[in-house]
Amino acid sequence: MWEIDKVDNYSELIEPSFYHKIMRNHLYIKETDQKIYELILEKARLSSKRLNICEIGGGSGALTELIVEIENIDLIIVEIDISFYKLLKEKFNKNDNVTILNKDISQYDFDNPVDIFYSMGVHHHIAKGKLTFEYLSKIKNNLAEEGIYILGDEFIPAYKNDKERTLNLIIWFSHIIENARLQGHQFLAIEEARTLYYDILGIEDYKNSLEDLEKELSDSELIIEDIHKEGPKENIGGLYIITTKKSYEK
Ligand SMILES: C[S@@+](CC[C@H](N)C(=O)[O-])C[C@H]1O[C@@H](n2cnc3c(N)ncnc32)[C@H](O)[C@@H]1O
Repeated sequence: MWEIDKVDNYSELIEPSFYHKIMRNHLYIKETDQKIYELILEKARLSSKRLNICEIGGGSGALTELIVEIENIDLIIVEIDISFYKLLKEKFNKNDNVTILNKDISQYDFDNPVDIFYSMGVHHHIAKGKLTFEYLSKIKNNLAEEGIYILGDEFIPAYKNDKERTLNLIIWFSHIIENARLQGHQFLAIEEARTLYYDILGIEDYKNSLEDLEKELSDSELIIEDIHKEGPKENIGGLYIITTKKSYEK
């Protein structure tokens, strides 16, 4: 077994500019970015007022590069990791309508209601249980009445127990790693293999299923409005875009 210390920030595992260089070669991520961009573009186009938008966990800003091109929006990026935050500052400080905050989304309250929250590849980096509940509850409490949260992330097929979850994880990651290797993205293949190992050990990476997500959302009084998949036809997992809104049922 390989010795692993507790990880406080994602940049302890991968340097931000290296992350930026390799991660968009990951299968289905560019398509998912594009779809999130199109959803937000359409909302902004149809809106009679300027939209308040928040990106959770901007990372190295790959999706942000698309979103900042949209007119009629103000964008707040909330990024917990100081190294990724600094990179975002370098890239987007010049944009008058962009505010970049080095904050934890689960602890941050906004001055104004947010029309659209979105995140890409962040949900599975937030530990399950209390932290996930806190972050989703913050989103629900800061959403405008008709606001939405567009959550983009990888999900694996449903499982009944830890053993099944581990097997599903290995099958999903094998698909991603094999493709990275075949396309000549050796560093991405290694990084994904490392991530699989950490996820199995329950450190920093916590991928789960759409069934788990639905329960997590419902605990925080959010409901699913729409699900879109980018990924293989087989039921081995995929990149999903889940549009959620406040539940008024309770
Ligand atoms: C895998 S990266 C994804 C980055 C980017 N969204 C992308 O698509 O490349 C996850 C990011 O979420 C950030 N993050 C994790 N937990 C967070 C939290 N509680 N509040 C704000 N950002 C968070 C991490 O620091 C990291 O930059």
